Amino acid sequence: MATHPLVAAFQQAGQGHVFAHVEALNSAQQAELLADAGEVDLAEIAELNRTLVQKSAAAGVDLSDLSPAPYEALPKNGGNAAAWAEAKRLGEEALRAGRVAAFVVAGGQGTRLGYDGPKGTYPVTPVLKKSLFQVFAEKIRGAGARYGKPLHWFIMTSHINHAATEAFFKENKFFGLAESHVHFFRQGRMPAVGFDGKILLEEKHRIAMSPDGHGGSLRALQRSGAVDLMQREGIDILSYFQVDNPLVRFIDPAFVGWHLKTRSEMSSKMVPKAYAGEKVGHFCTQRGQTVVIEYSDLPKAMQEETDASGKLRFVAGSIAIHLLDREFIRRMATGADALPFHRADKKIPCLDAAGNAVKPEKANGVKFEMFVFDALPFAKHPVIIETDRADDFSPVKNAEGVDSPKTCAEDQLRQFVRWANGNGAAVAADATGLPPFAFEVSPLFGYDEDSFAVSWAARSPKPAITAGAVLT
Ligand code: UD1
Repeated sequence: MATHPLVAAFQQAGQGHVFAHVEALNSAQQAELLADAGEVDLAEIAELNRTLVQKSAAAGVDLSDLSPAPYEALPKNGGNAAAWAEAKRLGEEALRAGRVAAFVVAGGQGTRLGYDGPKGTYPVTPVLKKSLFQVFAEKIRGAGARYGKPLHWFIMTSHINHAATEAFFKENKFFGLAESHVHFFRQGRMPAVGFDGKILLEEKHRIAMSPDGHGGSLRALQRSGAVDLMQREGIDILSYFQVDNPLVRFIDPAFVGWHLKTRSEMSSKMVPKAYAGEKVGHFCTQRGQTVVIEYSDLPKAMQEETDASGKLRFVAGSIAIHLLDREFIRRMATGADALPFHRADKKIPCLDAAGNAVKPEKANGVKFEMFVFDALPFAKHPVIIETDRADDFSPVKNAEGVDSPKTCAEDQLRQFVRWANGNGAAVAADATGLPPFAFEVSPLFGYDEDSFAVSWAARSPKPAITAGAVLT
């Protein structure tokens, strides 16, 4: 073992301590440690130590020359109605041609929600308590039927939840989707380091490794063969969304059309921020490039800055919905351009030098993550379009309060009421649009305004909307 080339490489890189307890391990454990070590790019870690860990003061985000990013406003907010109609037509054509696939990033740990299990298995709908994954699966089925082309769905997991995610789909018979169209792959991992740059051990036979951030999706898509599969299937647009948001319209013809007509390599949806300090990324322009600056990095004064009319200046909030061009993904994964890593200081359970377990009270080390929106500056012709928050964004992030299961269920109900009443139903609702009882619209009946209207028109008599009703 002492002569293994990996051990030598770690020693040479000043990381030899990773193998300090190797003599106490059985052969299976030694193999596990070697497998972990084999995943580590020592040169990358050395570089990150130099640029992010040791130079913490200088590692702040570059905020120079920032201005608000331009975006295509909705027609009701002054946008060009004819251009939106044309975009929708183009997008529908692309969907009918099968050029779009869905992609959910579901590798996160969901710690804020305090839920033990893959976040996609979390129950969210108001009556049937369908899981997030089921909602997405049924939207995909609905869209496949509408456009006459079953969609492919890529699901990125991490080592923490991969097996449980696959098992959940199997148990639920893939929610009626063809198994051949659902593709799971695991994202990459990065080792955590202490503030001294030394790689941390979780156990004597295990390096403290964590998912490499949703930005890791670009290289994982390429590595897993997803990009090649897209090419074989004639898919050139990947619709990226997060696992925490059941309202997301990830099959959105107008969005696809804007992406196509501007020849964009990466497109994004924005909503005007609900309030100055809302915890979303901010779309900005920096020296001619589109960038997203996280809420945690944009100074409070800039978050609150207003223009002459009193409106927030940096108003464009990112709701993490993007379209990615297939060849752009390939280029980002294999070319010279690479996403930067971000540093997150965390409490990381680990072993001390003597091999004793440490449960830190405060941050004791650094995790490295890539963010997918950092690809925007590398994309040609990126376009940002406005969307209605009520139709695209109500994530489940916290156990209580804002962005909780309660607010999310209420936002789903408001959407169902809008769809129903827009088609002549007369469901009572309070001033915020919330009905006095829970009911539910299956995505198979309608997953957006248009598909709902089609199903509603086809029904005679019209479905009764009462407490506990499920339109399916
Ligand atoms: C994120 C965005 C923020 C955006 C907000 C909208 C970041 C850093 N910030 O914040 O700009 O306004 O969502 O809701 O992303 N994930 C992985 N692998 C990982 C890490 C995360 O797949 O290694 C997935 C999660 O499963 C989840 C998504 O990425 O689907 C977002 O992760 P999360 O950490 O919850 O992001 P937020 O801080 O909520």
